[in-house]
Amino acid sequence: MWTDLKAHYARTSDRNILDLFADDTRFEGFSAALGDFLLDYSKTNIDADTRSALIALAENASVAARRDAMFAGEKINETEGRAVLHTALRNLSGRTVEVDGQDVMPEVLDTLSRMEAFATAVRDGSYQGQGGKITDVINIGIGGSDLGPAMAYRALSPYGVDGPRCHFVSNVDGADIHDVLVKCDPTTTLVIVASKTFTTIETMTNAETAQKWMAEKVTDTGAQFAALSSAVSKTADWGIAAERVFGFEDWVGGRYSMWGPIGLSVMISIGADNFRAFLQGGEAMDNHFLTADFAENLPVLLALVGIWHNQISGHGTRAVLPYDNRLGRLPAYFQQLEMESNGKSVSMDGKDLTVPAGPVVWGEPGTNGQHAFYQLIHQGTQVVPVEFMVAAKGHEDDLTHHHKLLVANCFAQSEALLRGRSLDECRERMAAKGLTGDELERQARHRVFPGNRPSTTLIYPKLTPYVLGQIIAMYEHRVFVEGTILGINSYDQWGVELGKELALALDPILSGDQDGAGKDGSTLGLVKYVQNA
Ligand code: F6P
Repeated sequence: MWTDLKAHYARTSDRNILDLFADDTRFEGFSAALGDFLLDYSKTNIDADTRSALIALAENASVAARRDAMFAGEKINETEGRAVLHTALRNLSGRTVEVDGQDVMPEVLDTLSRMEAFATAVRDGSYQGQGGKITDVINIGIGGSDLGPAMAYRALSPYGVDGPRCHFVSNVDGADIHDVLVKCDPTTTLVIVASKTFTTIETMTNAETAQKWMAEKVTDTGAQFAALSSAVSKTADWGIAAERVFGFEDWVGGRYSMWGPIGLSVMISIGADNFRAFLQGGEAMDNHFLTADFAENLPVLLALVGIWHNQISGHGTRAVLPYDNRLGRLPAYFQQLEMESNGKSVSMDGKDLTVPAGPVVWGEPGTNGQHAFYQLIHQGTQVVPVEFMVAAKGHEDDLTHHHKLLVANCFAQSEALLRGRSLDECRERMAAKGLTGDELERQARHRVFPGNRPSTTLIYPKLTPYVLGQIIAMYEHRVFVEGTILGINSYDQWGVELGKELALALDPILSGDQDGAGKDGSTLGLVKYVQNA
């Protein structure tokens, strides 16, 4: 099947995407919607035959059966022997979901209610710090225990104006926590320690520092701490009362966890009702993913476009360019979601992959990137498939002219990538400026845009909690579909372990308590540099 698709690519790669628009139903035929949430993939080199071949690839990989197994609580995370049920966290219908014969929903919904009661109490001041109403919340976590809530807090800031300020500390670099603590009053600050395992060294180190900082002014620090973890027993040492410990099960992967307790800071910021709307958006995408035909199924289509661009066409990176400033942390969130999930070299059965596992994902909000790295996207030698996203309306009703410009820029960029500008057009423009001869030719060549560069555009009415839920759930399922087609287990992350082990081993070497026997010359040289500093 891969060979067929590659042969199909070889046959069609020279064709101009713009020519596909000779069919004036191209946009309708190559876009898909869930209500008014729309994915346009017509500006790619995918035609009806390509799409059929890609769908056949998904069918051949039993995507539907594996999807149903995932939602049903089967242990599809085989290398860790775990179910994969982040979808249960947004299953507001309460539909039974069983793991090992037990319905997990009563516990999920009970934890959600406890979170809601606590978030409401923080917001209305019925839960207080030693110095009164909570003014600041510090979420201490890293990776999946940081990126999701940090991204969503910023994305949904229009809904958080009446909530406390939230800060996100992740890096073990003391600069991170220092810069947050100096802005907060310990007597009115709530510290949330967010760690699935409650062992992550960065998080535990930052939490200890926060506790010491708070202890200088607050008698009972435990009373101003909350813990979010699937290792609830480990939270006991922190003196945090059970009512502020929010647990979740090991069938929620770290990078898929923002829907449950790890989302507490977001819930405190935007309120329980808005957080429910976020869950509803995710749940709506789940239902769509479960029921829509593959040719209309947003996560499946996004995955197939991804496979077409990376594994078939050989484009090594993919840019995520939200024309939505509040989605500034979304590319970083997607980096973990996609690259920690699918950045593997072996398939589920331990065999080497025969195709690349996926692209490097990167990006920044537009229009900022236009004045930075878009040069390479337009004129560089490598093709970078782009995913644009934009809201039809902004939140700033008094600044609609800004939003119109934003949208115009977003559409202009995808048009420029598609259309390009030929050498002949550039010659004409240079001639119009009065240039002639060699100088005209030289200047014209620098101004050529090859065009024919693919992009997709996701467009939605407004960046509401519901829409954010749709976006995140769509990308989660996209990663799952890509992983399934590649035969990967998207839910483990063994590739992060070696660095952790070596960092622990280097700690005593750096402090001079152990020699560096067995270390390479470079590492020893760097250690010596720090020791002599
Ligand atoms: O080291 C990688 C990782 O395990 C991620 O998968 C996870 O999101 C992050 O670290 C944080 O882990 P925890 O929530 O257990 O502190």
